[in-house]
Formats: sequence, structure tokens, C-alpha cells
Amino acid sequence: MPFFKLTDEQLMIQSMVREFSRKVLAATAAERDKTKEFPAGNLKQMGDLGLMGMMIPPEYGGEGADTISYVLALSEVAYSCASTAVVMSVHNSIVCESILKFGSEAQKQKYLPQLTDADIIGAFALTEPHAGSDPVAQMTTAEKKGDRYVINGSKRFITSGKNCGLVIVTAKTDESKKHKGISAFIVEQGTPGLIVGNIEDKMGLRASDTTDLIFENCEVPAENMLGNEGDGFKIAMTGLDGGRIGIAAQSVGVAQAALDHAVKYAKGRDQFGHKISKFQGLRWYIAEMATEIEAARQLMFSAAAMKDRKEKYTMQASMAKLFASEMVNRITGKCLQIHGGYGVTKDYPIERLYRDARVFTIYEGTSEIQKVVISNGILKDKRKM
Ligand code: CAA
Repeated sequence: MPFFKLTDEQLMIQSMVREFSRKVLAATAAERDKTKEFPAGNLKQMGDLGLMGMMIPPEYGGEGADTISYVLALSEVAYSCASTAVVMSVHNSIVCESILKFGSEAQKQKYLPQLTDADIIGAFALTEPHAGSDPVAQMTTAEKKGDRYVINGSKRFITSGKNCGLVIVTAKTDESKKHKGISAFIVEQGTPGLIVGNIEDKMGLRASDTTDLIFENCEVPAENMLGNEGDGFKIAMTGLDGGRIGIAAQSVGVAQAALDHAVKYAKGRDQFGHKISKFQGLRWYIAEMATEIEAARQLMFSAAAMKDRKEKYTMQASMAKLFASEMVNRITGKCLQIHGGYGVTKDYPIERLYRDARVFTIYEGTSEIQKVVISNGILKDKRKM
């Protein structure tokens, strides 16, 4: 619970998502991890429940929920299936929010209702083979030809690259400029010249497809530009601010699941004539982990509340992402240790949670990049002089 009181509506959303995800998503998460099957049907159900455009106003088909409700929901989904949670996170935090904030009225009316109903899933393509932490080094270009832009280049590690219905892609429109030479475009799946390339065989989040997207003379109408020419970097960074709160929420959800599984195991496992939960060493692990999860949860709520109050929250989103993603990696490791030899088998969910959590310190900005953002925020704050 946050240090402030959750409203009845926020509690209702949390309880509705908890019931749905523990009944529907948790039951099939292990199988999906094995088969790598994209949870298309579940995402559609989540669209019907209002989870796929949570913060979008009702006039565009969304729920008009606040960010606190969103992180509560996302944590609950992650608790039960981290693969489904990352698809939900990119779709809501980056794609829907970017179209709402930067899109033209025509783009909002055309795309948001399809996204909020989960008739289509959204993807976001910034990263390239040689441009990860430094997206300004991207080489994808978009050349204006009459009333169209022709996109050429390739993007890497794109969440939902194969299963998306549209992708927001960044590309250079002016090679002579750095940040302001980048623009963003909405590209529909099926557009000639948009090719789904390699699909990664990942250690975790295996039911969420992560792909290369190749653009070969891919033509989009000029009205598919998101924002103005040169706004692409700002759009990506603004989207990632919200996205990073989402990764904190995923981390909190997976960490809570790991702790709950470890506690259940410890209360049932006998060694030396006692339940292992009686041993002080293990009880201290549990106390420390519960405290760390609570600390991450508060950072997540704090960044979400700032976003809801329309304050600048870039640094707080990075703090929440940094702390929560490192925390979940410590905790899934410790919870696996509590399971002993069984922890590395498929007999218990902890093995999957351990693998799923690993990428959280990497995607949507590595821990090292979060420290760049946080130190920039501190050093540029003149009030601290
Ligand atoms: N919001 C709005 N504008 C921002 C901003 C923000 N959060 N951050 C920077 N900007 C603006 C700055 O104000 C500046 O604008 P002006 O030129 O008008 O002053 C401009 O952008 C350049 O800012 P910086 O000089 O700080 O930019 P930089 O090149 O030094 O980069 C960085 C900063 C923090 C390192 C940034 O590049 C970054 O976040 N890198 C990591 C990228 C990342 O997270 N990639 C993950 C890809 S998404 C993903 O993982 C996919 C998925 O599907 C899950």
C-alpha cells in the first residue's frame, strides 16, 4: 500500500485485475513459456476489461484511469504472467500514451479505439543493431517524397514486432542534425516494405515476441508522422519516462510473486525436523525481501503520482525503474535459493520468474542509463546549489 490511501476505484481495479490474472493468466503462464505462444486471446480479453488503453480518455475508447490504477493493474498482470505484462506495458505506456500526447486528432480517432479494444497491439521501434543506449546514433532514415515518407533501415529488439498491428518507428529526417533530426511515424503492419526479421529466442519473457523490423523502401503517408518533423527523440524520451514506471510495476509484480512462492515453499518444506521457515537465516531473507519490495512499490507510486499531478517525473521514473529492476533480480535469485535444488527445475514457477526478471535492468534503458538520467536530474537542479 502507498503512504497515501488508495481510492475505492483504484482498489476495485486492483482486485478485478488480480482475480482475472490469477485465474486466467497464471494458469497458462508456464505452458506459454514453453511454447512461446503469443497471448493474443488473453490480450483481447484484457482489452474488453479496459486494460489495454487504461489511461486513454473514454472519447477514444479508453478508461480514463490514472497512472496509480495503471501500475496496480500492471503489477497484478506481471505477478501472474510477465510475458503478458511487457506487451501490456509497451502498448499502454509508450504506444497509446504517445499517440494521445503527440498524435493529430485524425490519428487519435483512427488508432486509439483499435488499440484500446486490443483489436491491434502496439509496438515501439527505437533501438537498432548499433544504437541501443544511444538512440541518436540510429541510422534508419525517412525521406520525404511528395506527400509520403520512404523509410529505410532496421530496428532491433522490438517487443511485439511480429504480433503488432502498428509500430511507432523513429527515423532520421535530417542527417545534419542530432536529436532534432529524428522524427516518429506510425506504420501499420502489412505496409509494403515493413518486414519482420529475426525473432529472438530469449531466456525469459518467452511468450512476448522480440524481433528485428526491417524497413525496405517502406512508404507511409506524410500524415502518419507523429508530432512534427524533428520531434521523434522527444516523443521517444517522453514515452520512455512513462514506460520506465511500467517496468518498475512489472518488477514489483514479479518480485511479489517470487516472495509469495518462496514463503509457501518455506512453510511446507521440512529439514532438520522443522519447517525451514522456522530458521532465522531464512526469516531474515524474507523480512529483507518484503522490505525491499515495499520500497520499490513506494518509488513506483511516487513516480506515478507525480505523473498524475502533471509534474516533471523523468528522474523519479528512472529511480523507480533502477531500484525496482535491480531489486527483482536480487529477490528472484534469493527466492530461487530458498527453493534449493527444486528452484532450478520446472516443478516450481520460481525458475521462470528468475529468467523473466533478468531483462528488467536492461530494456527501456539499462540501469547505467537510469543513473545518467538521475545524476543529470540532480546536477541540473539549481535549487541544490
Ligand atoms: N523528456 C523530454 N525530452 C527529453 C527527455 C525526456 N525525458 N530527455 C531528454 N530530452 C530532450 C532534452 O531536453 C534535449 O532537448 P533540447 O535539445 O531541446 O535541449 C534533448 O532531448 C537531448 O537530451 P540529452 O542531451 O539529455 O540526450 P542524450 O543524447 O544525452 O541522451 C539518454 C540521453 C538519457 C542517455 C537517452 O539517450 C536514453 O534514455 N537512452 C536510453 C534509450 C533507451 O531507453 N532505449 C530503450 C529502447 S525501448 C525498449 O527497450 C523496447 C521495448 O520494447 C521494451
